[in-house]
Amino acid sequence: MAIQRGGFSTRIGFILAAAGSAVGLGNIWKFPFEVGEGGGAAFVVMYLAFCFILCFPVMVAEISIGRKTKRNAVGAFTALGHKKWSIIGYLGLTSGVLILSFYNVVAAWAFGYFIEMVTGHFDIGQRFGEFTSDYLTVGLYSLLFMGTTAFVVSRGVSKGIERAARILMPTLFVLIVGLIIYALTLPNAMAGLKFYLVPEFSEITGNVVYSALGQAFFSLSLGMGALITYGSYLSRDSNIVKSAAQITLMDVGVAVLAGFMIFPFVFSQGIEPNGGPGLIFVTLPGVFESLGSWAGVIIGSFFFLLLSFAALTSTISLLEVPTAYVVDEHGIKRSKATWLVAIVIFLVGIPSLLSNGASEALGQFITLPGAGTLDFMSFVGLIANDTFLPLGGFMIAVFVAYVWRKENFDAELAEGADNLKGSWLQSYVNFAVSYVCPVLLGLIFIVTVLDNFLGIRIMTMLLG
Ligand code: PHE
Repeated sequence: MAIQRGGFSTRIGFILAAAGSAVGLGNIWKFPFEVGEGGGAAFVVMYLAFCFILCFPVMVAEISIGRKTKRNAVGAFTALGHKKWSIIGYLGLTSGVLILSFYNVVAAWAFGYFIEMVTGHFDIGQRFGEFTSDYLTVGLYSLLFMGTTAFVVSRGVSKGIERAARILMPTLFVLIVGLIIYALTLPNAMAGLKFYLVPEFSEITGNVVYSALGQAFFSLSLGMGALITYGSYLSRDSNIVKSAAQITLMDVGVAVLAGFMIFPFVFSQGIEPNGGPGLIFVTLPGVFESLGSWAGVIIGSFFFLLLSFAALTSTISLLEVPTAYVVDEHGIKRSKATWLVAIVIFLVGIPSLLSNGASEALGQFITLPGAGTLDFMSFVGLIANDTFLPLGGFMIAVFVAYVWRKENFDAELAEGADNLKGSWLQSYVNFAVSYVCPVLLGLIFIVTVLDNFLGIRIMTMLLG
């Protein structure tokens, strides 16, 4: 099938788009509340270790598969001559659809908060529950959000995705740094920093391990072929290992910064850090209010607007994965494929939309032996983020090391990378893809399934 594929016009364009995919609600909304629920700094340590030791090599592997084959997450494996392994791509499509289905709802909250801030409704923080259960309003915002995402994706890679990422990413960064400086001047900020930075290793439980791993994969957009797809638009003279290192550092950097911003705010307001998905939505409006009405409206609306944009560069990549599949493998035109996929995912997201208070019945009906009772959104998160993504990462590592084989992987990495050969980074990536990732990801996957889905609590027995 000879279909004209778009491409990123520059390497920096690729980096920004991939970093745009990585940096999103995962860093600013999810990371802080996961840290809060996972006991603070102990979670941060696990998360950082997973990002660098396990995720970075998987990222290199994904980008290489994409660039080598110039195909989508499913077609890439077939193009390498291993059709059976395209099961990895199908798993990735499933994860992507599930993730976008709830992600879009949270993005709608962020956008809704932007509107609330513009109109000076700082009390929205206290009305978080009421706001999220107003499902007609949130539903409308999420329709708008999905529509915007589909609009950008339908315009193709370099025009839509790259252009948006170029402007928005740096702006967000500056705003966060400004808010950190303000946060550190507040009373009790130090207690927040202590919670965030001084690990209590007794806090590491089985749940902390899976959620830190799931968070690492989720935040880096790994394990579902998003970076296979983006890699497929990358030119042959770009250095893959270096790009992956930059993307990882940027993503981890923004998450770590988000923590520096949030925990001083949380502690200065005397809020419990383990409040779950509402954490930033409950905390931040009060902070903006404390800046005074003018500054509060301006900075508050700017913040939630940029958060919405950060979410947008991620929803774009989430939608791009199934869209590229439909375009490449079924020969459907990009614009039609995009809208088709977007509608399906919006519909899949309706239970997540309703799961936040609007419907008790829908919200609380799933009980798992290990994980307890979950609302629908957390249930989808447990399946897609914490289980499927690491499983995808495991299979990608095994595929690259033992099926595609190291010689071919090395040859792909060498293109566009002059002094990579023999470097420690190259050696580590090879070693990790062959041994560290398969062994650790495989083990954690088995234990996750036993623990959460079958109630056999091995990790809990080991760690307490
Ligand atoms: N990494 C994105 C975030 O942190 C979410 C995402 C996951 C995007 C998987 C693409 C693929 O918000």
